[in-house]
Amino acid sequence: MIMNKATAIAHPNIALIKYWGNLDDELRLPSNSSISFNLGSLETRTSVEFEPDLSGDQLLINGEAQSGQVLQRVTDQLDLVRSMAGISDSARVTSTNNFPMGTGIASSASAFAALAGAASRAAGLDLDVKSLSMLARRGSGSAARSIPAGFVVLHAEKSNEDAYAESFAGPEYWDLMDCICVVSRTHKPTGSTQGHQLAETSPLQAARVTDSTRRIRICREAILDKDFETLAEIAEADSNMMHAVMMTSNPQLLYWEPATLEIMHAVRRWRSEGLPVFYTIDAGPNVHIITLKDYRSQVIEKINQLGSITTILTSKPGYGVRFIDT
Ligand code: DP6
Repeated sequence: MIMNKATAIAHPNIALIKYWGNLDDELRLPSNSSISFNLGSLETRTSVEFEPDLSGDQLLINGEAQSGQVLQRVTDQLDLVRSMAGISDSARVTSTNNFPMGTGIASSASAFAALAGAASRAAGLDLDVKSLSMLARRGSGSAARSIPAGFVVLHAEKSNEDAYAESFAGPEYWDLMDCICVVSRTHKPTGSTQGHQLAETSPLQAARVTDSTRRIRICREAILDKDFETLAEIAEADSNMMHAVMMTSNPQLLYWEPATLEIMHAVRRWRSEGLPVFYTIDAGPNVHIITLKDYRSQVIEKINQLGSITTILTSKPGYGVRFIDT
């Protein structure tokens, strides 16, 4: 029997050296390389079934039928898979997240990594990690990094075949812990796809990109050496640089809320007092506080003492995309 259904699980990831801006928006070829680790406690589970009788692709996310742009982005990804596999059937796609929607926790990375895995397998393709990463990148740039396991680098290259992510340390390599402070639950006004297109309008983007090779080298070495202080300094500088580009784009993107800044100051204070913590912030107001596993409770207690944060999600480094029997 020909298998036409498959289910995959993938995790979101948090970038320590951020990706912002594309060389090619259509292919989602990133302007600079990025480094992240997968968030093992948060996951997206996606099933794809190709069915000859369907008149169009169908998409359910957490039980709700999707249409419009959300469905179109999935259809675009499925079209790539269909052309690779030489099939034309429409697909039924069912996806669930184990983390709350609408908390600003980026689900596009785990969503497109799980979709790339499940759709390619359901179409009868047996893609390796590199090819899956390239495919996931076409759906969402950061999704390329959710394919390999643990600590990952996404290479910025000019061709589709060279822009993929690979693991340089497994999830057990270092006991980092991400404590995500959910600052706002409102939907962000400008999503990443539009944001990437504005990056070049900031005069700071060219300098940020030129310097990214240096930051990538320092970050990668700090992870491999388990040098927390060096990682803290480079990751915070990198996050600040990305937000400097965002704030100086035209139109400008200002994602920080008062609570975002409050946490940034607090994290720097805690670090000067000896606590191993640093912050990193994506395209939204939420703050990821990175610490070491042994300090998790202490960090949560300190965040709670601030009084402004009601939701904290935590995660250790996690595996890459994987398949499960359905
Ligand atoms: C700020 O991968 O979300 O999180 O390709 O449009 O889906 P799309 O963009 P996306 O961009 C990620 C931006 C970021 C930084 C990062 O994760 O590197």
